[in-house]
Amino acid sequence: MEFFLDTAEVSEVAEIASWGILDGVTTNPSLIKKSGRDFRQVVREIAEICDGPISAEVTALDADGMIEQGLALKDELPDNVIIKVPCTDEGLKATKVLSGKGIGVNVTLIFSAAQALMAAKAGAMYISPFIGRIDDTGHDGMELIAEIMTTWESYRVSDTKVLAASIRHPTHILQCMMLGAHTATMPTKVFKQLLKHPLTDRGIDAFLADWADVEKAGKA
Ligand code: G3P
Repeated sequence: MEFFLDTAEVSEVAEIASWGILDGVTTNPSLIKKSGRDFRQVVREIAEICDGPISAEVTALDADGMIEQGLALKDELPDNVIIKVPCTDEGLKATKVLSGKGIGVNVTLIFSAAQALMAAKAGAMYISPFIGRIDDTGHDGMELIAEIMTTWESYRVSDTKVLAASIRHPTHILQCMMLGAHTATMPTKVFKQLLKHPLTDRGIDAFLADWADVEKAGKA
């Protein structure tokens, strides 16, 4: 499974990238606003730290505007930047055109398996179902991942990766892994929670205490 970071904080990308297992980064207008920094500059810096795909989102609502923004972003930013568009009719049109030009497109704000399949048919490189936001409505976001994975298997979709987004906690990631989702993008906090285990820490403490005894006995 590909592990992506969902952030526009460059320092967080640098920290997690230093672990050696960061496969990509997703940004969106809200994360850019939170960072308080210039959109293009932030994406440029992230793209220099992480080799994997870096999603930069367009804000136009019509296909022509999305295509224009997408092409401009591809022109101005490093090659590993891909273009994020919303799952609308105009977004599908833009996906078809941009992907036809060999540009990677991440179709975002997916809330149904039908939307996911339509985006795949338009040529999306990634489709982003929003798990946490479905959970927030009192439904089970993970059911959507299961439906999409079943659909992918039924129709042998192989050119579009399922990128689980709006991840709230490590259990979301575990469930996505068990369902075979190709990718998940998560906040830094969840990335760290995934790695941390109290028994690992306790085990290290015990090994170090015993090793100190070995050293004391002059047997190291
Ligand atoms: O990047 C899109 C998605 O991950 C947003 O998550 O937490 O705003 O629902 P959230």
